[in-house]
Amino acid sequence: MSSIKSQGAKVYKCTMLAILMLATLKPFAQTRQKLDFDKSWRFNLGAVESGEKVTLNDSKWRVLNLPHDWSIEGTFSKDNPATPEGGALPGGIGWYRKTFTVPAASKGKLVYIDFDGVYQKSDVWINGHHLGFRPNGYISFRYELTPYLNFGGNNVIAVKVDNSVQPNSRWYSGSGIYRHVWLVTTNKTAIDHWGTYVTTTNVSNASAKVNVQVQLHNYQKAPGLMISTKLYDAAGKPVSLAGEALSAAKSKDTALTVAHTLTVKNPVLWSVDKPYLYKAVTQLIEGKTVLDEYTTTVGIRYFNFDADKGFSLNGKPMKILGVCDHHDLGSLGAAVNTRALERQLQMLKAMGCNGIRTSHNPPAPELLDLCDKMGFIVMDEAFDCWEWKKATYDYHLYFKEWHKRDLEDQVKRDRNHPSIMIWSIGNEIPQQADSSALRIAPELAAIVHSLDKTRPLTTANDRPDTTNKIVKSGAIDLIGYNYHQFDYAKFHDRYPGKKFIATETTSGLETRGYYEMPSDSIRVWPTSYDKPFLREGNNVSAYDNTRPPWGSTHEMTWKVMKKYDFLSGMFIWTGFDYLGEPTPYSWPSRSSYFGIIDLAGFPKDVYYMYQSEWTNKPVLHIFPHWNWEPGKMIDIWAYYNNADEVELYLNGKSLGIQKKTGDDLHVMWRVKYEPGTLKAVSRKNGKTVLTREIHTAGAPAKIELIADRSQIKADGKDLSFITVKILDKDGNVVPDADNKVNFKINGEGFIASVDNGDPVSHDPFKADYRKAFHGLALAIVQAKEKAGTITLTASADGLQGSTLVLKSR
Ligand code: GAL
Repeated sequence: MSSIKSQGAKVYKCTMLAILMLATLKPFAQTRQKLDFDKSWRFNLGAVESGEKVTLNDSKWRVLNLPHDWSIEGTFSKDNPATPEGGALPGGIGWYRKTFTVPAASKGKLVYIDFDGVYQKSDVWINGHHLGFRPNGYISFRYELTPYLNFGGNNVIAVKVDNSVQPNSRWYSGSGIYRHVWLVTTNKTAIDHWGTYVTTTNVSNASAKVNVQVQLHNYQKAPGLMISTKLYDAAGKPVSLAGEALSAAKSKDTALTVAHTLTVKNPVLWSVDKPYLYKAVTQLIEGKTVLDEYTTTVGIRYFNFDADKGFSLNGKPMKILGVCDHHDLGSLGAAVNTRALERQLQMLKAMGCNGIRTSHNPPAPELLDLCDKMGFIVMDEAFDCWEWKKATYDYHLYFKEWHKRDLEDQVKRDRNHPSIMIWSIGNEIPQQADSSALRIAPELAAIVHSLDKTRPLTTANDRPDTTNKIVKSGAIDLIGYNYHQFDYAKFHDRYPGKKFIATETTSGLETRGYYEMPSDSIRVWPTSYDKPFLREGNNVSAYDNTRPPWGSTHEMTWKVMKKYDFLSGMFIWTGFDYLGEPTPYSWPSRSSYFGIIDLAGFPKDVYYMYQSEWTNKPVLHIFPHWNWEPGKMIDIWAYYNNADEVELYLNGKSLGIQKKTGDDLHVMWRVKYEPGTLKAVSRKNGKTVLTREIHTAGAPAKIELIADRSQIKADGKDLSFITVKILDKDGNVVPDADNKVNFKINGEGFIASVDNGDPVSHDPFKADYRKAFHGLALAIVQAKEKAGTITLTASADGLQGSTLVLKSR
């Protein structure tokens, strides 16, 4: 499929009139169809003899809808071969089968199945015929079904997924068909899979060129064949069009690439604050029949990385303020859910974050769609290893045979996303230290640049010194630093005239809601993170003061990053906690401590440091909680902005005014604890900006349920995230509450999963109960497909329960 050749077929420009005429054609039913193919698969966990056989009786197999991750349904154990680094959940082999019909009327058309991602080592069969094998668990792929289908009759698709040989990942991978599957039907003459490539050039506020490249197959029906692209603005108004007639093919090769350019007057430019999207609708027309219609999302923007001035978007200097994230969605596992992704991005956006690094693999397509829509700058990453391993059975086993195909597929799939502004061909590749990088890096760069020259390419280097062979190879456009924040200042001494990006930073460690005194010394794990801090309970203090030896606290890196213009941006490790890699601990911990936001989606305190720095909205955040042993010395931190000072009061008595000086990012008071009320007031020019209060909480008395959205779509997919708070009788969150909360749900929804953000809990995520962790828990409610009411009731021993009613429509 990748061997599309521009066959020298002559392309004639039409007259403007002809273009206008063809551009007004409405597509008929016979154009392409993309059907959601997620529903009603049968699943068997475990090996199956000849599981692909059409005659196999799968009637006893479990029926489920995709996306599906079987690992997340399993039981945590340190003995699972994934190890705690991989999330301590089971892997194994799974089989999926689906029996489906294809209408007789589809005979003569081409039918494909598209998998957005299967972890990992998938084999696919249609009606017993083997279609192919893909080892890479993150790549999207397509098979053509046409020659093997029974049109008008039953067909059986079978998928074997093999995630049994582990460890094959340094983080939680999930197992199964964990992304969407589509059934695509096209006419014989059609636009290819990932068949458009749209770039924008000559962009200004006055005008822009939108260049559309279209790849076609089976175009021998010409003459009489035309192609046109019409650009629609966000309101659906056509703003530009271009088109041409295609001549007859002169050879047997029926593949063709056609390019045309549209001019847009006064374009609205895509930016992180205003992610304005156009739609390019490409039609392939024969006579008066639309043979194919293909829609591409378009964002018009230009950007630049400058060696001295850093990054700019549409001519405006700015920094990329990004985070790295793994693909799991906490308690939902790897099974992709658009609303869960959207919620993550909304929380990050509210923090002021404007960038996402898809560490360390191709993401779900929905994430990129959301980044286009919501205004995030994406660094789209391909690999965590090349030929040398990082985990015993990871992709290094397949790299030699598969890297070209996988990388090509990633770039072809993703290159139309306006949000993507950096390609990364690898994270901390061990071969940075080896001369083999001189061979591989240029080869990978050539693959990427042969498909897209509009974005710079980087690697995330943990050896950013000049001995690095990837950098030495000259293949890299942006020099990516992982960590080494105190070397940033020396960057241009090392690499005169080169461009910089902080591909990965920080790795600060925190448990939400857990605090140790004193807070004002930096602890480096494991050197100064000695025994007294390795507490039972595997917690890390949530003051931003603990880091691994290779990393920094959040404040340390941000202070450096702010200082120099040439530092074009950063991707913090990580936005959200993720399953696996429980540094600085191991079992019984099974998920990370790196997140700015915990696994359940509850912000840690440092979230507000970024919010105070990265947004203009007024912030005043004080912590910790106010429940301590009387007489204990407590450090109270405040993050604030838009103010000159903060005054703190304890039970009405001033504890003094604090002001940030120099490069301070927080202020602190050390106070002898007495129960009561802490009150902070931020002021500008003497006038109050914000006030915050924290009260000493009494005993747990009641449960409060708060839905992020009380109305959801009755589409079987939409989610409402319900925060569960354990309150005292006066409505204060009880900071050490760990009550077990039981849920009951009635009506048109079900509980998709539960969590509390505790990296050490071994309770199942698929359950109708959860203990609170530092006063909070989470229940994720998923809509069924029928509109109606959903009633969630929460109860706990000795507490007043709570009921919440949601609507789905
Ligand atoms: C980096 C690595 C990440 C993660 C992180 C933890 O070196 O690229 O994948 O392991 O360390 O600090």
